[in-house]
Amino acid sequence: MRPQGVVTRGTTNPNRLRRVDNWIVETCGNRLRAAPDPLVVDLGYGATPVTAVELRARLAARVRADVRVVGLEIDPVRVAAARPAADPPGLTFTRGGFELAGLRPVLVRAFNVLRQYDEGEVADAWRTITDRLAPGGALVEGTCDELGRLGGWVLVDAAGPRTLTLAAKLTTLGSPAELAERLPKALIHRNVPGEPIHALLRDLDDAWRAAAPYAPFGPRQRWLHAIAAVRAAGWPIECRPRRWRLGELTVPWPTVTPA
Ligand SMILES: C[S@@+](CC[C@H](N)C(=O)[O-])C[C@H]1O[C@@H](n2cnc3c(N)ncnc32)[C@H](O)[C@@H]1O
Repeated sequence: MRPQGVVTRGTTNPNRLRRVDNWIVETCGNRLRAAPDPLVVDLGYGATPVTAVELRARLAARVRADVRVVGLEIDPVRVAAARPAADPPGLTFTRGGFELAGLRPVLVRAFNVLRQYDEGEVADAWRTITDRLAPGGALVEGTCDELGRLGGWVLVDAAGPRTLTLAAKLTTLGSPAELAERLPKALIHRNVPGEPIHALLRDLDDAWRAAAPYAPFGPRQRWLHAIAAVRAAGWPIECRPRRWRLGELTVPWPTVTPA
């Protein structure tokens, strides 16, 4: 089977994906617990396997000890470089692309992979991956900065994209507008007037500014007030204050579907 996709830059970093992993544990944990075979694919792990090693450790500790993570890379040199870090059966590495090398995982995490493709290739990539998921499976596809302080990801399942989540390290956040740089590929070129994601980021930024009086109580208090205000204004932000406290917000995908 020929791997589908192209080799791109392999930039990665330890702990870079902690925010999305934490969200996966909480939001996708039940899918994995219910699965007869708890198979997870880390698609496009990059120049070193560190984020795949971390994903396995997090899922094994917090979801299922018998989770099996397969790191898939389209670059054979990176597959060979990762193999010494394998710990079968819980963690293995092999060559593959969007076709998932014939695997049928419950969960695929593809982070900072589509960023280097054209926007027009996203829908096909999502469909190629989700067509190969186990029943009830999901894809988490997104982008973050080098240190994992800003990120955005889409949960996609067999029915298509379901939610968008934005996440920031609040102690280093200047304003929510900074999230625009790390939107998933499907949205990053859509932060322009007339697009729903632009309106959402603008309203978040306005609410953040209006919440400035809470800044002396810390950025978390300021963020919580900003999120509550944006929600009160009609944006259907999921009511998960525990996640808000971590610097996250999640909206249904139809809220931000490109115009
Ligand atoms: C920027 S690195 C991301 C590394 C890691 N996921 C992270 O977020 O730190 C992107 C990696 O995805 C790989 N890649 C690109 N397209 C792919 C595809 N279709 N299937 C598998 N890997 C792919 C590239 O070869 C590259 O190593």
